Amino acid sequence: MQIFIDSADVREIREAAAMGVIDGCTTNPTLVAKVGRKLEDVIPEICSIVDGPISAEVISTDVDGMVAEGRELVKIHKNIVVKIPLIGDGLKAVRIFSAEGIKTNVTLCFSPMQALLAAKAGATYISPFVGRLDDIQYEGMELIEQIVTIYENYGFNTQVLVASVRGPMHLVQAALMGAHCATVPFNVITQILKHPLTDKGLEQFLADAKKMKA
Ligand code: E4P
Repeated sequence: MQIFIDSADVREIREAAAMGVIDGCTTNPTLVAKVGRKLEDVIPEICSIVDGPISAEVISTDVDGMVAEGRELVKIHKNIVVKIPLIGDGLKAVRIFSAEGIKTNVTLCFSPMQALLAAKAGATYISPFVGRLDDIQYEGMELIEQIVTIYENYGFNTQVLVASVRGPMHLVQAALMGAHCATVPFNVITQILKHPLTDKGLEQFLADAKKMKA
């Protein structure tokens, strides 16, 4: 399973990239606003750090606007994936981009049939938001299982990109279900790294190292 970082903060993106654990990056308007930067400034910097798919989201909601924005975004770098909301005009834009060989990430997916429509339109990635479903007392990971099965049943090439990840268990389940990728906030990457037995074991090794013969 590929791991993308869900962030527009170049300090944490650099830190995760230095560990060699990330295959790509996803951003959204909320994440970009949080770092107080312009999309056109932050995206090229992310592209210089991460050698993999970088999702940049359009903010238009009509097909012409989305297509125009997406065509500008892909000029920034060859790794740009145009992130598009799962609405009717969004799918029209996905269809156009698919015919032009431009990669798309269809975002804000909350149901298996939305995911089926996105795949039919030619989406490169579908982003089901598991954490936000959990928040309203739906089982977010059930949606991943359904989409993976549906895509396998009909041989769609669209990749399942698990989004709105809130903790390590979402990732364990996603990997067991055969999701292609997951996008993970930096704090979750840190949580995954942490294990009390790793800390305890390291402490012991360092203590014993002091007893080694020089
Ligand atoms: C990624 O593509 C999504 O925009 C992101 O995972 C949403 O996460 P959130 O629900 O924590 O905002």
